[in-house]
Amino acid sequence: MSLLKRLGSSPAPQPQDSASNQPSAASKPVAPPPPANTPQEPIAREQPTDLPPPAAHLSEQTVSATPSDAAATDKLLELSLWIADRIQASLGSQTQLKPLPETERLLQERFAKIYHQANTRLPDSQVKQLFALVYDEMTGFGPIQQLLNEDTVSEVMVNGPDKVYIEQKGKLKLSSVQFANDDHVLKVIDRIIRPLGRRIDRKWPMVDARLPDGSRVNAIIPPCAIDGSTITIRKFSKNKLKVDDLIRFGSLTPEMAEFLRACVVSRLNIVVAGGTGSGKTTLLNVLSNFIPDDERIVTIEDSAELQLAQDHVVRLEAKPAELDGTGRVAIRDLVINSLRMRPERVVIGECRGGETLDMLQAMNTGHDGSLTTLHANTPRDAIARMETMSMMAGMDMPIEVIREQIASAVDLIVQQTRLEDGQRKISYITEVQGMEGNTVVLQDIFKLEILGKTPEGKLNCELRPTGVRPRFTPRLEARGFKLAANIFGAQIPGQRGRW
Ligand SMILES: Nc1ncnc2c1ncn2[C@@H]1O[C@H](COP(=O)(O)OP(=O)(O)O)[C@@H](O)[C@H]1O
Ligand SMILES: [Mg+2]
Repeated sequence: MSLLKRLGSSPAPQPQDSASNQPSAASKPVAPPPPANTPQEPIAREQPTDLPPPAAHLSEQTVSATPSDAAATDKLLELSLWIADRIQASLGSQTQLKPLPETERLLQERFAKIYHQANTRLPDSQVKQLFALVYDEMTGFGPIQQLLNEDTVSEVMVNGPDKVYIEQKGKLKLSSVQFANDDHVLKVIDRIIRPLGRRIDRKWPMVDARLPDGSRVNAIIPPCAIDGSTITIRKFSKNKLKVDDLIRFGSLTPEMAEFLRACVVSRLNIVVAGGTGSGKTTLLNVLSNFIPDDERIVTIEDSAELQLAQDHVVRLEAKPAELDGTGRVAIRDLVINSLRMRPERVVIGECRGGETLDMLQAMNTGHDGSLTTLHANTPRDAIARMETMSMMAGMDMPIEVIREQIASAVDLIVQQTRLEDGQRKISYITEVQGMEGNTVVLQDIFKLEILGKTPEGKLNCELRPTGVRPRFTPRLEARGFKLAANIFGAQIPGQRGRW
């Protein structure tokens, strides 16, 4: 049974200024709804001239406008739902419209008719806004569609009907977008997940899904979401940052980039560590793109985010359980399966649990050149996390054995950090050298030094080599990478690192 309450037979909501409107000469008795129609059917009727193309309302200005005259916006929203409902009724309830030019023409025409029937007169600018709302309601995800269309917005967070937050250019802010009420939020959730064959209801009030464009959606509704239905959409960024972008932002130096390229090509096992949102996946993507073109790559992710330029890539994605609780395919299952797929490289989006042990074993048994990320704040912390997560595999292995596996499997830890001023940088590139007694020996090769703070609160940092050459240098040299000494900090006047 659907949770959604239709806005059905209510009279047209009247926007604030409509009371002063004279009944329109154009208003006619309500025509019977035309037979169910599909948007593909040719529609050869006159076009209203005052309606904008839907794209006209998708500006950054709308997205970031501060909420003003909220009452008028509310009324407009209600009217848009009333009109959308009637248009939907005229098309047949099963008709799903797609945002295509022919749909736009169809909607413009029906909108004009029903708008006249609503017996209300609005200024032109508001009519345009109203049509945009109807268009988004019928072809997209309602009020948040404009946010999803806006390239500068990376996340959309609906905290109940009245608060829609966005992340725009790395900053979190409240948008001017609102829903009519909680039912409206539920209606949009339903529209998002229904085509994906997913469901949400009071019994199991949460859902995690991936949209066809790659964006991730999580929805959680009452009773678990206490203050109203909540949607979180992490938009799929079509343009992942490239190594040159990261160099330009100062996240790493050209020398560090070339060092990392040499490490990837030379099949070192590399772990990217960092906090949430520190840029781990972005860096993993950059590193994975260093893998030579002729190698078979298997990627394993919870939700597919990696964008590899190579041809020979097999992408695997974990799968949540079915409604009856069975059928879950975890990252761990995929790691085990990937080893039977003749991979030359296994790239694991993120290790969060027992799969860590399988990954270490793979790295130690001929699948070198593997790459992954994990949540840790320092390279030393990354080792501790790998120990804990390996124990989650439930193999009853003594900690010393696990530690030895880590020390022999992992060659390099690259620590990604989001600094307090918002900059994202590589803070350490650290070699895992082996065991000494009971301890994993780590040696920093590059390190971020914080030199001070500007009056505006921006940190002055420098990425520096520590002066130590990695012990695995012969492996890089065997692949033809001749490392100039000054890359690692040796001062040789007049000589720059060349590869
Ligand atoms: N070095 C960087 N400089 C600036 N922005 C970055 C950098 N790395 C990542 N980002 C941005 O930060 C956000 C989070 O990055 P992501 O790689 O998904 O982080 P994580 O995987 O650690 O959660 C993304 O919007 C991404 O584009
Ligand atoms: Mg990530």
